[in-house]
Amino acid sequence: MFFITFEGIDQSGKSTQIRLLAEALEKAGHSQLSVREPGGTPLGDRIREMLLGPEHAGMDPWAEALLYAAARAQLARDVIRPALGRGLIVLSDRYIDSSLVYQGMARGLGVDRVLDLNLGATGGLMPDLTFVLHLDVEKSRERLAGRGAAEDRIEGEPLEFHRQVEEGYRRLQEMYPGRVVGVDGGGGDEQAVHGIILKACGERLGLEL
Ligand code: TYD
Repeated sequence: MFFITFEGIDQSGKSTQIRLLAEALEKAGHSQLSVREPGGTPLGDRIREMLLGPEHAGMDPWAEALLYAAARAQLARDVIRPALGRGLIVLSDRYIDSSLVYQGMARGLGVDRVLDLNLGATGGLMPDLTFVLHLDVEKSRERLAGRGAAEDRIEGEPLEFHRQVEEGYRRLQEMYPGRVVGVDGGGGDEQAVHGIILKACGERLGLEL
């Protein structure tokens, strides 16, 4: 049925908002499936380990883009399309836009080339609606440090890289105003952000929640 994706820098609150939306959908009688990228298939989980393992520091940017696209191709074919075909609403923690912003913009590969690659990989499966949760890069770093867990390869990139990603998400919103909704997630008011998301689902997809 509908394919809704969530985007944003680390610690922007995507997983909390996906959980809250999933609960609201179920309560309103809509079956949903939540997935996250990279991963969600046996192949995708292996690729995730390759991508995020700090031992692959210095990975070539095209190798990186191709691996994300490979994991996405498998997830789109084996999980997302079948679920949409069964009438489910699919919520995804990251999708094509992550590659447009991280690889196309921050790594400098070019948005058009990365988009082409991913349209090929997914057979052109684009989201119906995308939420970008904005957060100050400094706040993201603070929350990451507070979390205590070891950084993965992408989290370990320098501050400037993460600034480009956050800036890239703002550009993305300008590129796709009909599909991408930006929400300020930095204030820490989860229910307020959830309210904005519910309203947008109503206005843009006609979902009564
Ligand atoms: P993950 O632990 O899922 O991060 P988060 O909880 O922030 O979503 O790790 C995914 C990392 O991979 C994240 O730092 C963003 C990056 N990424 C890309 O660079 N390109 C992509 O296409 C995707 C899906 C993720």
